[in-house]
Amino acid sequence: MSIKLSNGKEIPIEMHKTRMIQKITLQPVERRLKAMEEAGYNTFQLKTKDIFLDMLTDSGVNAMSDNQFAAMMTVDDAYAGSMTFYDFADSVKDVLGYKHVMNVHQGRAAEHLISKVFAKQGDVVPTNYHFTTTKVHIEVTGGATCLEIYADEALKTASTHPFKGNMDPQKLKNTIKKYGKAKIPFVRMEATTNLLGGQPFSMKNLKEIKAICVEHRIPLVLDGSLICENAYLIRQREKGYENKTVAEIVKEMCSLADIFYMSGRKNTCVRGGCIATNNKKYFGMISPWLPVYEGFYTYGGMSQREVAAMAVGMREMVDPDVAGCSVEQIKYFVNKLCETGIPALTPPGGLACHLDAKKFVPQIPQSEYPAGALTAALYITSGIRAMERGTISMERDKDGKEVYADLELSRLALPRRVYSISHIEYAIDRIQWLYKHRDLIKGLKFVEEPPVLRFFIGKLEAINNWGQDLAEVFKKEMGDH
Ligand code: F0G
Repeated sequence: MSIKLSNGKEIPIEMHKTRMIQKITLQPVERRLKAMEEAGYNTFQLKTKDIFLDMLTDSGVNAMSDNQFAAMMTVDDAYAGSMTFYDFADSVKDVLGYKHVMNVHQGRAAEHLISKVFAKQGDVVPTNYHFTTTKVHIEVTGGATCLEIYADEALKTASTHPFKGNMDPQKLKNTIKKYGKAKIPFVRMEATTNLLGGQPFSMKNLKEIKAICVEHRIPLVLDGSLICENAYLIRQREKGYENKTVAEIVKEMCSLADIFYMSGRKNTCVRGGCIATNNKKYFGMISPWLPVYEGFYTYGGMSQREVAAMAVGMREMVDPDVAGCSVEQIKYFVNKLCETGIPALTPPGGLACHLDAKKFVPQIPQSEYPAGALTAALYITSGIRAMERGTISMERDKDGKEVYADLELSRLALPRRVYSISHIEYAIDRIQWLYKHRDLIKGLKFVEEPPVLRFFIGKLEAINNWGQDLAEVFKKEMGDH
């Protein structure tokens, strides 16, 4: 939660104490430059020994609770019929309201199965915005096309719109008219929209989209990887929901979806995922493929220890102190940057603090990857690992031409219950330093480019060796650190 100080200022306050720690180190700037060069200017390729604050993602790196660790000690390790799985199924029924559930090894495995079963060549899948792995599965596994049906406001990085993750209902109606409902295997809503900057949609919007789906008998699929942050933001921003609990809002959101899936790596803090539904027919269409690609029905590719921790995490994630932990830190982070004129994406969302690279480094054309360059520059300047969410994260088209991203973002994710306000203060300070020296940052070019999901392992180099110039100026002004 956030708390008001006697001077009137509000700060996020951690509603937990740290009883186990992991040491981190801050390498001197020369080493950071070297590490960035070795990593091919791709932060995915860094080793954690060189990283001070790891804000690459909130996926699989959240702090787990004492109760989650305790649950991992008493699991039923059966291949089939494990009672640990049935405990998990109970938590899904209680928290999400679904009768049928299967585990999968992580979120993209759910996307694989859903795309395989529902999508076919020539289909289109409308979504409020794609996520990288979702798009690949819809297009590569399913042979369909992923269509972005976001509201116009979504691409404005400086905005006060509370729900930039909304799907535009009129555009959805037009899409159904244009392609015909037979070509639309499902409509997908993502809570919150990752690549739009963790922006939530409103309950009103979800209800409107559901009504359109019902009218045309198209299943509504909800990607609930960050459902609790979306619910927490509905509680804060949507009229009529201020007195509802996060748990009630989550249940209401789930009641509108025909098929729900999530990466368990975010909200439930474990390495895993699930698909859930109240529709027996849909469940029956997907479940035969589970043992083919994931594992038996009562573990789905996860270890029973993770299933046990996910069952506890499922119940804990709707606690407002868990659901709001990152949201409140992100709000503090983004507001402080905006106060000093730094182009951070607004309003603050539910996933990360995002820097708008088109505004931060306007000298870099999209063909030279501004978000990638900014992300690399931030690491050299601070030891903070952020993630490029721009053109490098896009796939080339069939003719090998670049597809420029709508947004060029450098994402500093806030894993749940991991970093403190002093860490965020440090990040703010180094981003401010970098903003003053932003002219030193130039573009990047690929030297090794894989054919799919290139952002994970692609290697790039700094045009005109600008990384060295940046490191030298930093060293002169700030010393090693
Ligand atoms: N859907 C959303 C909205 C996601 O954010 C992610 C993962 C996935 C699906 C895929 O889940 O990783 O468990 O296979 N997002 C991570 C991130 C990778 O860093 O934002 P997964």
